[in-house]
Amino acid sequence: MSIPFSIAIDGPAGAGKGTLARRLADHYRLNLLDTGLTYRAVAHALLRLGLPLDNVSAAETAARQVDPAKLDRAVLSAHAVGEAASKVAVIPSVRRILVEKQRDFARTPPGAVLDGRDIGTVVCPDADVKLYVTASAEVRAKRRLDEIESIGGTANFDEILADIVRRDERDMGRVDSPLKPAVDAHLLDTSEMAIEAAFLAARAIIDDVLAKRNKA
Ligand code: C5P
Repeated sequence: MSIPFSIAIDGPAGAGKGTLARRLADHYRLNLLDTGLTYRAVAHALLRLGLPLDNVSAAETAARQVDPAKLDRAVLSAHAVGEAASKVAVIPSVRRILVEKQRDFARTPPGAVLDGRDIGTVVCPDADVKLYVTASAEVRAKRRLDEIESIGGTANFDEILADIVRRDERDMGRVDSPLKPAVDAHLLDTSEMAIEAAFLAARAIIDDVLAKRNKA
């Protein structure tokens, strides 16, 4: 792998793309960037300052300060931060600033797995492999509920489902870089597929691309 190799993974919240991205990055020894964390970092900065999420200049300043190598998942993974992130993510200038940082990350050898909403369409349109990972909203809500309950929390299924549907609408309906599969993306529907099966399916696709690349 001499030229940086890039794998783009897109899909809605809770489809399993984060887990898949981590497993693929480990397996192929590539860098990993969960681009959702970059939007979450901007939202978190505004929330901490008590500023409204549509304050464009404050959001731009926060976006410039994001360092993709220093994102604290523990702080940024809170549900409210994800909800707020999808609001700052509609600001085109914030997207431009973060997309540049994400591209720099992808270009750094030996290459990277990036997961998000617009990786295959906007951030890395020339990615070596593009995957679009999806699952029904009900399955994603059930997974989120199981996750919360597994760490001793409680939550309401209908509220989680409503949240997921609202976030999907915001991500798919925005004017700038809406969530959608790239035309050349491979679709992986994890509604009825365990993560291990999705990992094996993704590996078959990637190994095929690597074999052709090594022959060229
Ligand atoms: O993936 P995650 O739930 O952490 O993303 C939080 C929010 O950030 C998403 O709902 C979406 O609005 C935004 N996002 C985006 N583009 C990306 C990654 C995330 O707009 N590439």
